Amino acid sequence: MDKQADIVIIGSGLSALQLACHLRSLYHVIIITKTTIRQSNSYLAQGGIAAVIDKNDSMHSHIEDTLKAGRYHHSMEGVERLVKEGAQAVKEMIADGFMIDRKEDGTPSFGLEGAHSRKRIIHSGGDATGKQAIEHLLRRLPPNVELVEGEMAYECLLDSSRNVCIGVKTKDAAGNVHRYFAPHIVLATGGAGSVYPFTSNAPTATGDGIAMAFRAGAEVADMEFVQFHPTLLFVNGKTRGLISEAVRGAGARIVDEDGCFLMEKVHPQKDLAPRHVTAFEIYRARMAGKSVYLDIRSIPAFREQFPTITALCEENGISIGDGRIPVAPGSHFLMGGISVDINGRTTVRGLYAIGETSYSGVHGANRLASNSLLEGLVAGQRLAAFLNRSAVLRRQPSQWFHYSEQLSPREAKGLMIKELQKKMMEAVGVIRDKETMERHLRELEARGWKRWIRQGLDLLSIEEIEYVNMYITSYLISRGALIREESRGAHIRMDFCEEREAWSGQKIVQTTEGIKIRGERHERDTIGTYA
Ligand code: SIN
Repeated sequence: MDKQADIVIIGSGLSALQLACHLRSLYHVIIITKTTIRQSNSYLAQGGIAAVIDKNDSMHSHIEDTLKAGRYHHSMEGVERLVKEGAQAVKEMIADGFMIDRKEDGTPSFGLEGAHSRKRIIHSGGDATGKQAIEHLLRRLPPNVELVEGEMAYECLLDSSRNVCIGVKTKDAAGNVHRYFAPHIVLATGGAGSVYPFTSNAPTATGDGIAMAFRAGAEVADMEFVQFHPTLLFVNGKTRGLISEAVRGAGARIVDEDGCFLMEKVHPQKDLAPRHVTAFEIYRARMAGKSVYLDIRSIPAFREQFPTITALCEENGISIGDGRIPVAPGSHFLMGGISVDINGRTTVRGLYAIGETSYSGVHGANRLASNSLLEGLVAGQRLAAFLNRSAVLRRQPSQWFHYSEQLSPREAKGLMIKELQKKMMEAVGVIRDKETMERHLRELEARGWKRWIRQGLDLLSIEEIEYVNMYITSYLISRGALIREESRGAHIRMDFCEEREAWSGQKIVQTTEGIKIRGERHERDTIGTYA
């Protein structure tokens, strides 16, 4: 079935809804989500929104904290806008009825998280900020916005020159293909946490937008920067969701099974050290065979302060009354993604990306805690302002690019996702080294994924398309990780343990044509190809 709209948004997280709520009411907007409107990483977000709304706080301090956490690998303009426009967006949301947690005297109750130099995180419903923010925006969705649930977008429709995105193909659970044509297609599909076995992400985070944009010819950048959250609930060999850093902000300590404080002598900020430092210590202790816990005995009102986490623990058989929660690190946030300009435009005309799936340079090499919901608000609002100023010329094209070959379901069925996830954690997890990554890349290449760039996905089921997307995204992460010969931000390379001046400000840009290292100082020649 073919449909036409002015703007099609893929994904239903915070950035998608913020965009939809801020577009002009004369546009026909369609939001397409592969599961349901309430399934997204944003909906799961416990942490809160970092925003300068306290008069004793300053933009300068939030900017500094953001830059320091991300190891100065940012777009400076992006960070300034994130912090300034973000504070304004949060104030507008509060004025519009978004309920934030307050102290008894009515002033906002600000939380603290890792690498913030002061308390500035606002929450709503304790540890249910993402859910509350999504519900707030859903209540405000205007009637010009149509919702399509249960369809997975899997391919950009390109014009015959392959330079302009003119639509998107989707598939429903019954295997039917649908086509949506619009002059503006927005990818807001979230990250790719599911390419790792342990993740805080919704299972739907399979890198769909990144794989789609890449296959359509768009640039993706700095895919090697993956943030691992140190404290995911760990029960019976599996991670079961996030134990927010706000728990440590409220006084919890990381301990091993003997009760030793793991972070005591490691970093001046101890349990609230940057995430790669805490994740590394926990990972190391676990590799040495020890179990690791969050000791929560110093938080007397835990249940009231963290109702979502309490429910999560109890659903998984962990009693809050025991005073300790078993934890392990897992993938949490992708700082890299589809390259976009300050308004969210990708390098393919008509195609946009916002939120975690995009790479706008606001998070550098390691995102500051609670800056992601803020990014969603700012990116959604900025793209809305841009599209509200743009001409929307709707026309159903009579011709578009067709793949001459289709990927066969037989080949996609052979994709071993559990094995892929395990290898991703071993090779491009918290700790990395050249030899393991090279071996892993050889194995990925042996799957023949490069062929898929030139093949259509029409014959595959939703699950098989997700597998293909996970392989492509994994390859992009792994390739970037091997090329970046330094430790910066979220990961630690055992063979290049420090940040290196030669890599400062250098972006690793990948397209179907090849790989480039692009920096302020110079642009190096292509160093690899996908052709
Ligand atoms: C957390 O609650 O620990 C996560 C918050 C974030 O990653 O921004």
